[in-house]
Amino acid sequence: MFKVNRNYLKLPGSYLFSTIAKKVAAYKEMHPEKEIISLGIGDVTQPLAPAVIEALHSAVEEMSRAETFHGYAPDLGYEFLRKAIAENDYKERGVQIALDEIFVSDGAKSDSGNIVDIFSEDNIIAVTDPVYPVYVDSNAMSGKTGEYIQEKESWSKVIYMPCTEENRFVPEIPEETPDIIYICCPNNPTGTTLKKEELQRWVDYANEKRAVIIYDAAYEAYISEEDVPHSIYECEGAKTCAIEMRSFSKNAGFTGTRLGFTVVPKELKAADGTMLNSLWARRHGTKFNGAPYIIQKAGEAVYSDAGKAQTKEQIAYYMNNAGQIRKELSAMGYTVFGGVNAPYIWLQTPEGMKSWEFFDLLLEEANVVGTPGSGFGPSGEGYFRLTAFGSAENTTKALERIRAL
Ligand code: MLT
Repeated sequence: MFKVNRNYLKLPGSYLFSTIAKKVAAYKEMHPEKEIISLGIGDVTQPLAPAVIEALHSAVEEMSRAETFHGYAPDLGYEFLRKAIAENDYKERGVQIALDEIFVSDGAKSDSGNIVDIFSEDNIIAVTDPVYPVYVDSNAMSGKTGEYIQEKESWSKVIYMPCTEENRFVPEIPEETPDIIYICCPNNPTGTTLKKEELQRWVDYANEKRAVIIYDAAYEAYISEEDVPHSIYECEGAKTCAIEMRSFSKNAGFTGTRLGFTVVPKELKAADGTMLNSLWARRHGTKFNGAPYIIQKAGEAVYSDAGKAQTKEQIAYYMNNAGQIRKELSAMGYTVFGGVNAPYIWLQTPEGMKSWEFFDLLLEEANVVGTPGSGFGPSGEGYFRLTAFGSAENTTKALERIRAL
């Protein structure tokens, strides 16, 4: 008789964005006449850049001819894309990353979920609270988080580092020493960032404790301030302690086309000398058959002169929404954070409302969907996340409706 992975049964509730989607679908079914504006999940709304579309078309053309057809992609991803990444994302920022340290994938969500495979269940994990739920849930699914403690809404082997207004949403070094530290910067959901010296402190700490940092830089393209690093490898010593994940979803609108990559430096070794790069290569080769050729060609086009200019415009468009949300909500009396180096605005719910209460109020009275802060962890209670990824028109309309509440 087969048995299921019982770790799944210990997971509290369903995945945050699935819960929201179900609630919204149920509301729509009851009120088909209502026009709902979604500023909930961080999904882009602008079409792919013309340079990307052009690359997709010509890659499809190539696939239609026997002499230019492509089957399975190389394990690590096509060299043309890894070269473009090494050159543009790293070398231009003074960081040398070798091509065999870059692993192309179908997105940062998969990589952040899959990276748990290469770690033992004996590790203590540290996450910020609030946190992107994938980090904790994927560890829980593979039995690496200990027991779930209902009253505390937390797992016994996870250290939660509260990120609140008091510490400017910057995680503090915890009392207990972690082995694996998740940092998402610019942060999802708070939209806040770590300055270079703040990140350097984490790198030094990780090196001292022989811990590894899993650094999610999916939102780096939204950084507007000078002293905020785009890559953890801008910090000295990061190659011996950090894995970095990147996504094409937010910087170039690939949420529906899927592309991302993970950097695992060869200098990053466990205490017994095992290279994490070799383990990840082994996992990648065994369990993943590569992002599609046409999508990798589209990814390469993001780094062309035209691609860079066009995606920059898209980011400016979303950041204009972010600025508008921040400004108008502040004028309405809300306390808001984020939205300066990130496409997320993190606001305090009015009159001490619970996050889910505010979610219901916005959905039912304004027909606007956001994300309840408590869905990201206990410290998110009383907060709410809005994304800047809507269209400008819908963003304006959503703000009008919120004002009218
Ligand atoms: C979010 O809304 O937090 C993100 O879109 C989720 C993701 O990127 O997977």
